[in-house]
Amino acid sequence: MKPIDLRSDTVTKPSAGMREAIFTAEVGDDVLGDDPTVKELERYVAGLFEREAALYVPSGTMANQICLKVNSRRGWELLCDRECHVVNYECAGPVVHSGLLVNLLTTERGMITAEMVRENIRPSSLHTPDTRMVALENTHNRHGGTILPQDEILRVREVCNEFGLILHLDGARIWNAHVATGVSLAELTRPFDSISCCLSKGLGAPIGSVMVGSNEFIKKCLRERKLFGGGMRQVGIIAAAGLYAVKNNIARLADDHANARYLAEELHQLDSLEIDLSRVQTNIVVLQLKMEMDSTELAGKFKEVGVLALPFGPKKMRLVTHLDVSRADCEEAVGRIKSILN
Ligand SMILES: Cc1ncc(COP(=O)(O)O)c(C=O)c1O
Repeated sequence: MKPIDLRSDTVTKPSAGMREAIFTAEVGDDVLGDDPTVKELERYVAGLFEREAALYVPSGTMANQICLKVNSRRGWELLCDRECHVVNYECAGPVVHSGLLVNLLTTERGMITAEMVRENIRPSSLHTPDTRMVALENTHNRHGGTILPQDEILRVREVCNEFGLILHLDGARIWNAHVATGVSLAELTRPFDSISCCLSKGLGAPIGSVMVGSNEFIKKCLRERKLFGGGMRQVGIIAAAGLYAVKNNIARLADDHANARYLAEELHQLDSLEIDLSRVQTNIVVLQLKMEMDSTELAGKFKEVGVLALPFGPKKMRLVTHLDVSRADCEEAVGRIKSILN
């Protein structure tokens, strides 16, 4: 039985076209600034976001943490959604790397509103930390791939301008928001001071993330990347996969979104599962378990029938669609899941 892997959009393997791009990549020592493929990738991504410059790094975690560090001072306070990746899955990076105090806010679907930002800025005094940063995540992983409302992001930007706050975007899956809304990457990300985006999620590259911003910002990121040990030598060999991914795999994310909706609508019909269909906006489906079994046990049962999914809390599971699962695979997965739960 062929396993159908719905654990994450990070599980994809390079396609034949991507492997060909890797095979034929021109390379050079990127720490010396000599790798033409990396340079082309950085130029291409900066162009997509209509920014001056971009910098390639090994991971989304490194991209987020460098962005936060470059624009902050130790002891500043950072406002984040309680469920965000930057805090939940990056090993306390904001405090370890940048000495940031994190204030976790409970949000609806990942959006810290302008009003919440305003309410949580501490009055300046001898005693208080300086509230100086906000980080948003679009699309929002733990909220189920939800898209942040752009009009509210613009209002947050206004409050940030009023109080001198830095606004960071964890745009690991900004590509999905772009395809789902039809709004350009440049417009979606214009309000942000720093942007990180991943090539290794829905776009299907094996490795790599990119930070995007002004020349001055990227120059500072370059130094931090070196400090993080993220300077890589003939890295065009993998940047070629990233370049192939941004040139070929953005528009097709619409298929992943349609497949996620299909999974959600089918599985929603089962009495033992609950799915908030209004949250299924991109390539992620969160299942709420209405049964005795917890999510680890259920993931084990799924695995027995060749469906791989991740526990996402004691009574929650996450399914993610990506370029290595077709509509036929999703139909097969629904059949296998129904065979267990019916
Ligand atoms: C929203 C979000 N941000 C950042 C990351 C970090 O990416 P990486 O695993 O490449 O460090 C992830 C990874 O899953 C993510 O989902």
